[in-house]
Formats: sequence, C-alpha cells, structure tokens
Amino acid sequence: MPPTLPSRADFPTGFQFGAATSAYQIEGQSFGGAGLSHWDSFAATPGNVVRAENGAIACDHYHRWAEDLDLLAGAGFDIYRFSTSWARIQPEGRGAVNPEGLDFYDQLVDGMLERGLKPALTLYHWELPAALADLGGWRNREIANRFADFTEIVARRLGDRIWSAAPINEPWCVGWLSHFLGQHAPGLRDIRATAHAMHHILLAHGRAIEVMRGHGMGNLGAVCNFEFAHPADESPEAARAAATYDAYYNRFFVEALFKGRYPDLALEGLGPHLPTGWQDDFDTIRAPLDWLGLNYYTCKRIAPDTGPWPALKEVPGPLPKTAMGWEIDPQALGHFLRMVSREYSGTLPLYVTENGMAAPDPSPDHPDDDRIAYFATHLAEVRAAIADGVPVAGYIAWSLLDNYEWALGYEKRFGLVHVDFETLRRTPKASYHAWKTALDARR
Ligand code: NOJ
Repeated sequence: MPPTLPSRADFPTGFQFGAATSAYQIEGQSFGGAGLSHWDSFAATPGNVVRAENGAIACDHYHRWAEDLDLLAGAGFDIYRFSTSWARIQPEGRGAVNPEGLDFYDQLVDGMLERGLKPALTLYHWELPAALADLGGWRNREIANRFADFTEIVARRLGDRIWSAAPINEPWCVGWLSHFLGQHAPGLRDIRATAHAMHHILLAHGRAIEVMRGHGMGNLGAVCNFEFAHPADESPEAARAAATYDAYYNRFFVEALFKGRYPDLALEGLGPHLPTGWQDDFDTIRAPLDWLGLNYYTCKRIAPDTGPWPALKEVPGPLPKTAMGWEIDPQALGHFLRMVSREYSGTLPLYVTENGMAAPDPSPDHPDDDRIAYFATHLAEVRAAIADGVPVAGYIAWSLLDNYEWALGYEKRFGLVHVDFETLRRTPKASYHAWKTALDARR
C-alpha cells in the first residue's frame, strides 16, 4: 500500500496548510529588470555551486506564476508562503525602485487572493543585491537601515493584502552557513564576519517588524531553522559538543527574539567577535511577534574535534537518508515544537514553515512514496504535539516546485510538482495528489 497523508479533518478546525517557495529559487532573476544578487556572483565563481548553475531562469515563475498559483489552489492549500526578491524591487539594494518588480508582486498577491490563497510573505530569502554585498552585506551594520527602507517599500505597496509576514528566512543560514561554513553566498569562512552577520540579521529583523507595524500590518513573525544535535556517543565531550551546536544553531536566534540575549555556549566563541555595543540592540530585536515559524528537515550527529571553537564535527548517523544525505528524524520536529513553545514562545502560535525532502525524479522504480511517507511521519509528530497542548497553527510543505537548491543547483528535487528544466513544464507528482486528497475541500 502506498503511504497516505492524514486528512484535514485530523487537525483542529482552523489549522492551515500551505506550500512554500522562494523568489530566487523559482522566479528567474534575469527577467523583469531585477538587479544582480550575490547568488549570481557566488554561482559564477568556480567550485561554489554544482555545475555553476544559477537562478537566471530557474522555474520561470516570473512568467508562469498564474499556472503555479492554480497548482497551489488546485491542491486545496490555504497558504502560499513566498518571498520578495530585494534585488528585483531595488536593483542596487538602495535608492531607485524597479517599478516592474513591484508590479510583479502586486499582481502575484492579487492572484493569490483571487484564488483564495493566503499570502504569507517572507521579505528576504537570501538574494542580497550584489551592490550591497560589495559594501559588506550582512557584516555591515548599515544593512539594517537598508533593509528597513526595503521593507518600507514592500509594506507600502503590498501591506494591505498580506496575510502574514516574516522579515528573514532562516537566519542561521544567512549567518553561519554563509559566513562561517562558506557554503552559501558570500562564501566566507570567518568567525568575525559570522558574529557580525548573525547580530545584524537580528537587528534588521527588528527594524523590519517596526516598519511593518508602522504600516498597520499584523500577523508578523520570524522563521528560524532547527536541526537536532544528537551527541555522537555517550561521552561528556560529545554531549558538550552537541550542546554547543544546539546553542549556535537552534537557540541563538530564538533566545535573542524572545529573551533579549544570546546563549552562553554561543557567546563562548562568538562573544569576542560581536560588533561593539551589541547588548544595546535587544530592545529592537525583541519587537513583539505574533507567531514563530520553524523550518525543520533533519538531525545531525555531533562529535568533539580538535581545533578552535566550536571544536566539533558532524559524523554519519544510522537513520534512512534523503537525496540530500540528510537523516530522516521526524521525532526531532516534535521535540522542537515542544521545546520552543516551552522555553521561548509560550502561547504564541507556531507554524511549521518548511518541511519536506529531496528525492530522485519519480519513475516506476522510484515512485514518490518516500516523500509522502516523509510528510506523513512529520505530520504525525505535529498532531502529537498539538495533542500535548503545543499551539501549532499550521504546516507548510517545502516545496511547491522542484527548484534551484542553492549550492546544489537543480539536481536536488524537493517539489510536489516536477519541473522539467529544459521545457519548464510542470507535472504534479504523487505527493501533490496525496496532498490534494488529504486537503479535499477547504473549510
Ligand atoms: C531551507 C531553505 O529555506 C530553502 O531555501 C531550501 O531550499 C530548503 N531549506 C531545502 O534545503
């Protein structure tokens, strides 16, 4: 028997389901007068991205958005989580606006509303305008002012029709993955750059919340990513290494957003490198939120290592893995929903804002069953958390479409809908049909 998904009726009334994408991953950055983003230059540098692929065309959502919204509505989703490309709206990252870019999002949002989809906006999903990257990007405190201006432009044009908004997708990736591990643009491996970026991301987040509140926008939140850190063995050294990973990955941002401080274990390494006066920014960073989004995919096995802080390494684990090589650990999603509400967000509604898996193209040998099973086991954890009283209000699948998986190019496919990157033809996979059956009619 192929796996199935729980149905809408298995969740509390009003629980919302959605699917997500992001601008650079689907739109086609070369269309419509968008400026260059730092992902264009990062991808052009040999060795950074598989086959040096970039988002110039991606899924051509820029021209095919109506078909994509029809797919979302056709499956019965309530929410569409999408993002605005800063470089499309402000090609230089400051100053002049590209009117065509703003018009694009304007019609996209209207298109959602016409189809009964709730627009869940993320302002920034990683495509920093290259001109701002040249000025130091997230390392430069000035980015918070630029981001506030960008937010102002978007809020003025779209704010009256947006259902929910979050400033920055996955701050850990924008900060650590991009400035410490060097795997994402701008590809740095520098602890000082990392500490500055992580702090400035939070400052920019707080400024954006202020701006949106000023425009009367409500239902404002933050979207953080979480990865469970299993100690690789029973030793106290492994426990400490896992706790350090947990501190700079899972807790750094929520601790700042909800408690106005950074975790001690993260400060051990990052503290000396934070920008001067960082302690004074928490009033801005802690701007009250209406919800918190959790992006969750996998866990890691963490072992101690020699060398400078954080002196840890990832080792392979025993669980089945996705095409990304990521272990499938649904229980960790339940853990994070409980932990975050208990320790940080309290009664605030939680949304799973991303969850999904990369799998090979469906074929008779490879039906889409693994992806359906992935969703099913994670949704079971969501239901269990709700039964325990955790205020989970919605679940958003990643992703509507196969798309540009950043440094891994177009090879890793997360879509409910297959995209042929030669013809750009969309073909719903079995997981899309499973969602359609599960969601049936909207309530
Ligand atoms: C999280 C990111 O938000 C998204 O851009 C990415 O494609 C997925 N993870 C899968 O790696």
